[in-house]
Amino acid sequence: MAAVAQALETPSSVTSIKSLAESSALNTVPSAYAFNINPNDEADPKDPEFAIPIIDMSLLTSGTPEQRSQIIHDLVKICQEWGFFIAINHGVPESLMKAMIDACHGFFSLPDEEKKEFKSGNDVLEMFKYGTSYNLALDKVLLWRDFFKVRTHPEFYSLYKPATFSEVSMEFGKRTREVALEITKAISESLGLEPNYIYEKMNMDRGLQLLAGNYYPPCPQPEHAIGIPHHTDHGLVTLLIQNEMNGLQVEHKGKWLTVNGPANGFFVNLADQMQILTNGKYKSVMHRATVNNKATRISIAIPHGPSVDTTIAPAPELCEREGKPPKYLAMNYKEYIQLQQSGKNYMKSTFDHILA
Ligand code: OGA
Ligand code: NI
Repeated sequence: MAAVAQALETPSSVTSIKSLAESSALNTVPSAYAFNINPNDEADPKDPEFAIPIIDMSLLTSGTPEQRSQIIHDLVKICQEWGFFIAINHGVPESLMKAMIDACHGFFSLPDEEKKEFKSGNDVLEMFKYGTSYNLALDKVLLWRDFFKVRTHPEFYSLYKPATFSEVSMEFGKRTREVALEITKAISESLGLEPNYIYEKMNMDRGLQLLAGNYYPPCPQPEHAIGIPHHTDHGLVTLLIQNEMNGLQVEHKGKWLTVNGPANGFFVNLADQMQILTNGKYKSVMHRATVNNKATRISIAIPHGPSVDTTIAPAPELCEREGKPPKYLAMNYKEYIQLQQSGKNYMKSTFDHILA
């Protein structure tokens, strides 16, 4: 009971939602975590309009030229209407995906005392950080999740516990980056640009890649709490995997759709820099993480972005061709991230601030 009272009165002293959720007294959501989900806003997953697009990556990498052009053609509509798809046959071994989830589980299972060593400031560009909620200094509602973030590119950093983490995350980071780069190539082509357009303009040889682990323990009243509220990601493209529990929802046609897909696929969402670069043609999809009352959910998001010193603006080639003026002001990626994390954008899209 002590832990619960503490969370209600002094949220900044919460060490982890994992410990709080494990305290036996917890059968309601403490008020500091109160967040209402409206079930009427949820999409019917059986409605064909809400059938999540699937991209077979093997057709991009080793299909016939016709198969590749078909996928690139499909991507136009998917990136415009959804900003989200599931990538299958991507070449990352299922055993590696599982090992990565297990390594994350191993980290979150360490005693709070040991995880504390990994706490740091709130800058996303730190080598690594660990915490609960989002930013305890800014959060108006506490989030039902613990997290860590590690920077894996352009320089590779790692958590040093558990012992397997470093080796697994190095290989996983390398392989997921290959998938993300293949996706950016196909997206460049889908825009009628050279395949390496995004890679080169966004300086992706030095591109930022993060490994972001989320731990969502069971919640006694899942409709009265939230794992991560609605947001868009700051980079170009984010890949995401999870353990056997669902929880990711994407916004589509004004409804929230729970993503359910092949266990060995990557959930792929376009992010803000892609929307800016394409002058709003492609969509940085709004998404959120819900919680459940059955079992712990672990997800790993792997955001891929430009190099942090890149200035991103709508591609002049696209603006010219479509005869549209740039909708967004040019901005440095690092400053964009700082703006997003400054708290001015709580539950909003950061690019609203840079409308031209
Ligand atoms: C994120 C995110 C969703 C999830 O980490 O940015 O959107 O399902 N996560 O955990
Ligand atoms: Ni996200």
